[in-house]
Amino acid sequence: MCGIVGYLGKNDCVENIKEGLLSVEYRGYDSAGISYIHDGAIQIQKRVGSVANLFDSITCPTDTHCGIGHTRWATHGEVCEKNAHPHISFDNRFSLVHNGIIENYAVIKDGILKDIPFRTNVDTESIVNLVAYFRIVNPKLSVLEALCETLKNLQGSYAVAMLALDTPDTIYFARKESPLLIGKGDGETFISSDVLGLGKSCSEYVVVPNGVYGYINKDEVKAFEESGSDVCLEFKSMISHSERAQKGDNAHFMQKEINEIPTVIENTVKIYLNEDNPISKVDKSFWQDIEKIEFIACGTSYHASMVGAMFTEDNAHKVARTHLASEFVYNPPLLNKNTLCVFVSQSGETADTLHAVRVAKERGAKSLGITNVMTSNLASECDVCLPICAGVEVAVASTKAYNAQVTVMMILADFLRDGDYKDIAEKILSQAASIDLDGMWASAKKFVKRVANSSSIYFVGRHMDYITCLESCLKLKEISYIPCEAYAAGELKHGTIALVEDGTTMLAIVTEPKLISKTLNIVEQAKARGAKLIYFTSLNLKDFAVSEKDVMAAPKVDVELSPLFSIIPMQMLSYMVSVYKGYNPDRPRNLAKSVTVE
Ligand code: F6R
Repeated sequence: MCGIVGYLGKNDCVENIKEGLLSVEYRGYDSAGISYIHDGAIQIQKRVGSVANLFDSITCPTDTHCGIGHTRWATHGEVCEKNAHPHISFDNRFSLVHNGIIENYAVIKDGILKDIPFRTNVDTESIVNLVAYFRIVNPKLSVLEALCETLKNLQGSYAVAMLALDTPDTIYFARKESPLLIGKGDGETFISSDVLGLGKSCSEYVVVPNGVYGYINKDEVKAFEESGSDVCLEFKSMISHSERAQKGDNAHFMQKEINEIPTVIENTVKIYLNEDNPISKVDKSFWQDIEKIEFIACGTSYHASMVGAMFTEDNAHKVARTHLASEFVYNPPLLNKNTLCVFVSQSGETADTLHAVRVAKERGAKSLGITNVMTSNLASECDVCLPICAGVEVAVASTKAYNAQVTVMMILADFLRDGDYKDIAEKILSQAASIDLDGMWASAKKFVKRVANSSSIYFVGRHMDYITCLESCLKLKEISYIPCEAYAAGELKHGTIALVEDGTTMLAIVTEPKLISKTLNIVEQAKARGAKLIYFTSLNLKDFAVSEKDVMAAPKVDVELSPLFSIIPMQMLSYMVSVYKGYNPDRPRNLAKSVTVE
């Protein structure tokens, strides 16, 4: 959902901005752009497509020391060079990059700025034009004051970085809801949407607090509240610099991230088995008097939460339910101080999930975040936050983070039962060690053509397998664009079976022995109506007329851990189908890694 970066310092700003943009490119790859001041004018270079494409096709001076850059996931206005950021003000004196949505941009454009020429139909242009407008209307205003005036007129979410021709060695910034961080090194200051976009020479960083604006110049970083009062930014030491993720020998990040799953699970469990583990650092009172648990998340994290809720009810014997964050905010359940709301998010920046945190907190519930990014808004807004330790996930389609989230929630469920999660942790460790990735790739590969050539696919399963169906289905549709649906097997006969016709592809997930006959009886009904079946199982289906050639091998794991491991071959299948169809699985159309708008 757009990545922004900025650099001010002793070195070449273009090189630093390029590095920063490459690190935050996962946030949007519709277009990329850069702005700096040179030859007494604001310069902007932008291109549709990737960051690499931008820098391959432009030449920039090497003696600029202050600039801003952007990688875009389009929200307002089509994907084209004109709509790419940075945007320049109508008087060519300000350039600005933005992540977020200005909800009242049409009101601003047709109201206060009705006589101002706009070059695009991008909401961001209203911000930069407002700053220019306020400076023209009242030349006594400083740039900072004009920015402050502008912010008062904006509704929506924003993280912005801005250059002004009048103050060439300054970057202005502002943040409301969308993420923004500042990093400092020796004679250098960086600004970015993500800690990854801060330069390697940063020794300290700060998450810009919500509702704060300010400026960076070579002497200082100053921040203010909307009222104008100073905000003291508390910089923390950089914990470690994650190297920009590399694909290594893998063709795509998604392939690499799937191959990392056993190691990620292992690392996550080991961290939670340490004496100094993340749960032990939480004040004991936080866990007291919890009567029920509400899991709240979006997309893949929602599916992981479904596993978490199921595990929590089964093991901790507490009422546990799952909610889509985008629905939770309109229809929250009854919450009170004895409710634990668990917010699960890989990025920690999903706007729907963050909105839900605020709703839950207003209603007095305890909030627990589970995230991969401990510098995220989720981590700072929740009362307590647990890491999933998956490492940077670059591919848009989430894979290893799902497995890490499920791991942490399985551990949490046992912790909530009696404080002791050693048994489940060790069971997970031993199963992760026995995972045969090569065997899984080989088995999934046999079904690539069949799936890729299907015009639609139905995933069916019961209980835990139903959750694996939901996640498998999401994975396949988002990167292969094949229409698919996941159904609880028992629901088929209540309507959906009407869609089954000769040749319909149906993928039955059957990993629980006790559910074999119940699931397969339903599947037989679809088969009798022409459905062509793929059975994803490790169980013996000898009592059913199942041909070996239709069986895709599921991992042989303890049935309780099935949702954690069964998803892996399905992630592999989706990946290979996408590649087979000629798509780039890392960058599915219309999607961005981090969904920072509601
Ligand atoms: C699907 C996918 C998305 C995310 C969802 C929530 O592969 O990645 O469905 O799971 O956008 O994102 P986070 O977990 O960052 O809150």
